[in-house]
Amino acid sequence: MAFKPANNIQDLQYFGEFGGVNPSISDSSTYTFLSAKTMFDTFEGNADGCYLYSRHSSPSNLYLGEALAAMEGTETANVSASGMGAITPVLLQLCDSGDHIVSSRTIYGGTYAFLKNFTPRFNIATSFVDITKLDVVEAAITEKTKVLYCESVSNPLLEVADIKGLATLAKKNNLKLVVDNTFSPLSISPAILGADVVIHSLTKFINGSSDTVGGVVCGTQEFINDLRNVNSGASMLLGATMDSLRASSVLKNLRTLHIRMQQHSKNALYLAEKFEQLGLKTVYPGLASHPSHTLFKSMMNTAYGFGGMLTLDVGSAEKANALMELMQNKNLGYLAVSLGFYKTLFSAPGSSTSSEIPEDEQKEMGLSEGLIRFSIGLDDDIERSFQTMKLCMISLDILK
Ligand SMILES: Cc1ncc(COP(=O)(O)O)c(C=O)c1O
Repeated sequence: MAFKPANNIQDLQYFGEFGGVNPSISDSSTYTFLSAKTMFDTFEGNADGCYLYSRHSSPSNLYLGEALAAMEGTETANVSASGMGAITPVLLQLCDSGDHIVSSRTIYGGTYAFLKNFTPRFNIATSFVDITKLDVVEAAITEKTKVLYCESVSNPLLEVADIKGLATLAKKNNLKLVVDNTFSPLSISPAILGADVVIHSLTKFINGSSDTVGGVVCGTQEFINDLRNVNSGASMLLGATMDSLRASSVLKNLRTLHIRMQQHSKNALYLAEKFEQLGLKTVYPGLASHPSHTLFKSMMNTAYGFGGMLTLDVGSAEKANALMELMQNKNLGYLAVSLGFYKTLFSAPGSSTSSEIPEDEQKEMGLSEGLIRFSIGLDDDIERSFQTMKLCMISLDILK
């Protein structure tokens, strides 16, 4: 039977303490125990249902985690203060000194910087590879490799990972496949396709209102328990805990994610098709010209489309900057990093979100200076937005 992530979210029935239709927000950092023995047992991890201290867990965070685990089809999940607060503990939990990671080379700049510049301090090495070539990925695996890391749809080049193929490689070599699914919530369900751990930056589509940062790790109960272990858990010890107030607001936004993703995807597909027809260099997984269009189709939960992200290459950094400034002046969206907002956001990744990647490596992976990354908004009349965008491009000689 097809996996239905939005049904899983809808079917969660939570009652607040006083019968509220939203669960009550837990407004405490610490919790009382009626007996000292129960407190001791909780420290030992043997008192299910007891709360100890909110860096470890809190009712609001558990509600949100449970909802995100239902969405991804994993046993459970742990929410965190940011996407990086989810990614970094996962990698540090899975790798010891001397271990090795094989990672996609097109990933979010912060993750890239962590693997390239930070984890080597702990003697954890990473090989960055073209994730779309399974033979190249396999060739990079050594006896020290512990983790295969990728984004289901990569930031910013929108490369698509063959999650089933990577999961097979991971199983064969006894590795954990960790997938960042930030760009394609609901559309792609990596755990159902074989990923061991699924991560999101909740900051983006899932929260959808650009009013907070947040993250989540979805996985097995055993792995999430490891992350939360009071003696050795990277999430517990590094301490990037989400605040309960935020967890409750993200949970409310999650309830409308399916409708928002449908609109983001519908609008992005409309614009991508129009831009391509005009002869602009357009990358969008929903276009037949995308090298992984068929692969995306084979993995997707069709109702939610190909996502809200597209890129345009307008030839030079000057043109990209002029276009973004003009589009902001015309109120088409904001010149801002991040994604998943209700208004369109645009930025040039080479000089912003991927600036951690050295220029020569940017060139090698096809990240050109004139590339603009768009996170397409929820515009009701996308044709009107397109017509205004077109006029902007004509006035800057990007279109004739
Ligand atoms: C794909 C991806 N993963 C992770 C992150 C990091 O998330 P956060 O900014 O919430 O820490 C980002 C942020 O841009 C991202 O785009």
